[in-house]
Amino acid sequence: MKRIELKDLDKTYAQYDGKEITVCGWARTIRDSKNIAFINLNDGYFKGVQIVLERDKVANYDEVASQLVGSSFAVTGKLIVTPQAQQPYEINATKIEVLGKSDADYPLQKKHHTIEFLRTIPSIRARSNLFNAVFRIRSVAAFAIHKFFNERNFVYIHTPIITASDCEGAGEMFQVTTLDLDKLPKKDGKVDYGEDFFGKKVALTVSGQLNEEPLTHAFGKTYTFGPTFRAENSNTSRHAAEFWMMEPEMCFCDINELMDNEEEMVKYVISYVMKECSAEMEFLNKFVDTGLIERLKNIIENKFERLDYTDAIDILLKSGKKFEFKVEWGIDLQSEHERYLTEEVFKKPVFLKNYPKEIKAFYMRQNDDGKTVAAVDLLVPGIGELIGGSQREERLEKLLARMKECGLSEEDYQFYIDTRRYGTNVHSGYGLGFERMIMYLTGVSNIRDVEIFPRTVGGIQG
Ligand code: 4AD
Ligand code: MG
Repeated sequence: MKRIELKDLDKTYAQYDGKEITVCGWARTIRDSKNIAFINLNDGYFKGVQIVLERDKVANYDEVASQLVGSSFAVTGKLIVTPQAQQPYEINATKIEVLGKSDADYPLQKKHHTIEFLRTIPSIRARSNLFNAVFRIRSVAAFAIHKFFNERNFVYIHTPIITASDCEGAGEMFQVTTLDLDKLPKKDGKVDYGEDFFGKKVALTVSGQLNEEPLTHAFGKTYTFGPTFRAENSNTSRHAAEFWMMEPEMCFCDINELMDNEEEMVKYVISYVMKECSAEMEFLNKFVDTGLIERLKNIIENKFERLDYTDAIDILLKSGKKFEFKVEWGIDLQSEHERYLTEEVFKKPVFLKNYPKEIKAFYMRQNDDGKTVAAVDLLVPGIGELIGGSQREERLEKLLARMKECGLSEEDYQFYIDTRRYGTNVHSGYGLGFERMIMYLTGVSNIRDVEIFPRTVGGIQG
């Protein structure tokens, strides 16, 4: 008999009432009371199904009832709708096949495990309710992003992973080489990268933006969405060495239209996930963060704040609050400052814009005051920076002058500069930290728990 998936049954079970069906899955729990046994079977869908096993109805009762948690089964039986019970239906087994036994050391024996314990078993933890919910939401949120941009005529660009340019200029790149590190070729006392695979020094990308912009000037609106890498020595709950970034780029678009797009996108993804993953969201709201659903609803319903960096500094200075890091115009805001603004002053997401040019990347548009650039970060309660973006410097002369100040070679960035020589225009873009978005959506507070196999400084498994 053809197997039915539990996700499909969730919508259609009523039509199978009293009929025989087949399901497959793994046992989350097995309870044997001699003549009757109960198996909570899960096939990957968040909600499992109760299998009722009666000794006189199945030939291999003892074989099945003695299996351990984690083993897999094919179950054929009669579906019975149970309106009074917690679960809407159960399956009364007539035939059960043990597909794969589970060893006694299967780590998810108990019903509840700490998130820290689960972190030590990355290959198994997706079978727990918590990580099953988080990783499904990761998948659904990624789909929502594609849907959002697809509906708005954006073209999805696959930017390269290996690159010769440092987009953010922070020097936090993982070098890629095939040179023998124990026997490096030297020229004039330095490593001779002419001998390396690409004939020059290259690294894993920190952002797809620079390679994307030329494509934006071909299609008008693009986005890239893929892995990015940062050798940032930040051992925090919000930094990973490998993470996914989603970067839209729009021609004929200024900083205000950019913020409109960001706000619409964030609200769209939240709404989509709340609708498609209601069971998972309810679970997270109950066990991870009791204010989650309420908070997300508020975000969808209210307008985000838009604030200049200079005004934010004023607010921080006048707050009378003692911050660990001194506040003065020109500083890169620390997490304590960002949290104060979003969590205590505005109590909602805040677009912070027009930052001092010294603390931002070379490609951002210089404002008329000569001091600031048209950068905009979206700061959100509980997370801090969720999105970083800007209007781009579209004026060739200004871009070249800033690149010179930053010590960047024109030759290396020619592919990028050309966009300003052939039909330049006001354009803007941003980068969403995808893991931070998942933290925001799930209430999970550590980035290690929203990445499948996390890569953070000093730690790698699998
Ligand atoms: O602000 P960032 O550095 O911006 C850029 O890379 C731009 N080139 C994006 C663009 O305009 N196309 O990074 C963008 C976002 C941050 O706001 C943050 O959410 C996330 O990427 N991010 C990280 N997430 C996890 N771990 C890290 N180490 C991260 N560094 C940045
Ligand atoms: Mg940033």
